Amino acid sequence: MSAYLYSDVNKVTTNILQRMRNEGEKIAMLTAYDYSTAKLLDMAKIDVILVGDSAANVMAGYTTTLPITLDNMIYHASSVVRAVTRALVVVDMPFGTYQGNSKEALHSAIRIMKESGADAVKMEGGVEITDSIDRILTAGIPVMGHLGLTPQSINKFGTYAVRATEEKEAEKLISDAKVLEEHGCFAIVLEKIPADLAKRVTESVSVPTIGIGAGSATSGQVLVFHDMMGITQQFSPRFLRRYHSLSEEIINAVSHYISDVKAVDFPNEKEQY
Ligand code: KIV
Repeated sequence: MSAYLYSDVNKVTTNILQRMRNEGEKIAMLTAYDYSTAKLLDMAKIDVILVGDSAANVMAGYTTTLPITLDNMIYHASSVVRAVTRALVVVDMPFGTYQGNSKEALHSAIRIMKESGADAVKMEGGVEITDSIDRILTAGIPVMGHLGLTPQSINKFGTYAVRATEEKEAEKLISDAKVLEEHGCFAIVLEKIPADLAKRVTESVSVPTIGIGAGSATSGQVLVFHDMMGITQQFSPRFLRRYHSLSEEIINAVSHYISDVKAVDFPNEKEQY
């Protein structure tokens, strides 16, 4: 007998996420960008896999998420989709593929869905992007919103510091969340905002909110897989809980392998033909 209400569902859908939110079961989401990682996350029964544009940072080594392309995201998303049977797979629409041009936004979202086989897309922004959201939803593509620290706008913010600490920005954020709900987003990511504000937002909308650096009152949590597993080393914000220190384990294992090769200890008699 499973401890969680929805552990045994064969496929997590947007409806299941809404039911989890309504019944008080928290939603667990992690990023993945490749087949092998996605397979492990799905076996562990993660609810949602986000093919985040954070791939630009952790996969490609860019300092921002802006350079990643639609083709790059489709490559990562299709690798993930091939591994997953249970989790809902959501794909970030990359910078420049949906802002300000709803026709292009629809074209980008259709490419993601058709070429990767994912379940939904995610877009950063509030009232400014509702034309694109409307158009994408008209084509039957579910949309996840993303408010607070929206890394695609880093050049406007100028900093990765906590957002909406002032009441004016907090009120705009609550209003944007309501707009996203009214326009049909099935869930909203809240990134790096005060916990009290995330609670107010969560109480102001009836769709699930998924927090990262937004406290515990949201309907679910998301982390970047490479950060929570301790593969990335430099990035250490307060909200990040590390569940492993894989970087150390990998470096130790690789050093061991190097010594074995140099000492002609690998391969041994049993490891050859
Ligand atoms: O790209 C990403 O990984 C994200 C999460 C941090 C929410 O958008």
